[in-house]
Amino acid sequence: MSVQKVRKAVIPAAGLGTRFLPATKAMPKEMLPIVDTPTVQYIVEEAVESGIEEILVITNSNKHCMENHFDKDYELEARLTESGKTAQVKMINDIANLANIYYVRQKEPKGLGHAVLCAKSFIGNEPFAVLLGDDVVVNKGGKPALKQLINAYERHKASVVGVQTVPKDQVNKYGIVAPNKNVAADGRAVKLDNLIEKPNKEEAPSRMAVLGRYVLTPEIFELLEDQGAGAGGEIQLTDAICRLIDTQAVYAYDFEGIRYDVGDKFGFIKATVDFALDRPELRGQVMEYIQSIAKSK
Ligand code: UTP
Repeated sequence: MSVQKVRKAVIPAAGLGTRFLPATKAMPKEMLPIVDTPTVQYIVEEAVESGIEEILVITNSNKHCMENHFDKDYELEARLTESGKTAQVKMINDIANLANIYYVRQKEPKGLGHAVLCAKSFIGNEPFAVLLGDDVVVNKGGKPALKQLINAYERHKASVVGVQTVPKDQVNKYGIVAPNKNVAADGRAVKLDNLIEKPNKEEAPSRMAVLGRYVLTPEIFELLEDQGAGAGGEIQLTDAICRLIDTQAVYAYDFEGIRYDVGDKFGFIKATVDFALDRPELRGQVMEYIQSIAKSK
């Protein structure tokens, strides 16, 4: 049986970003730059490299700068051209040509599940990807995280949530999966029995946490439509996926790559340091600086 191709992706980016106030008072956290590139650009690039053709960003009233970032900027282009900055002209044009990006507003921040529901008419009746707007994954020399999930979706013909193992004392921050004990793991993929949002460590069925990447079948929308508020009073995507497991197979895929939670201050700092160390023009200086402070503190 052939499966429908995953062509569309949703990037929810309408959260309040309260962990990053005051920076997020007037600017979405998805626009925080890692070195010199906004977080959401890395995510759009991952989607494109994974074969996605159309992207819907879920925004709120504070997100104009995101739309501008992915648009043409004729004035800037003219100024850069006048001053002979051809490399920069190419750079800003490449961003505007990255992908077909559309936007829809989530009128109230009612949770990730509600944000994904805002994509219902854009997606229609086909499988789709979700990439969280503040989760960056780097898999140097390997396949992008989303591509790994799409491959697992095509193999198992079922929804797939991206997971990685987290320390036991952190399970209460994530959606945690319960693998089905009767079905053997297929490489990095396991069939799921259940999914629990932010369990305490005594109740957690595993240490495998859902981390910002999903491939979902469109049946999720019917479930999201009548999904009540869950943890934190928000409509949780995890709760709807948990109900999806009652009617069709759902897999977890332990994706390869380093994941940064850029919506968290320490996650953002780690991403900044690692990305800077990866830039040949910055590496030497940054390394020297880190070594000097490590000695002096
Ligand atoms: P988070 O829980 O990390 O985002 O949601 P948040 O609510 O902005 O975070 P804090 O706790 O207040 O700092 C994960 C992703 O889902 C989006 C966020 O923008 C983020 O990319 N989201 C969350 C929405 O689009 N809408 C929502 O109602 C909630």
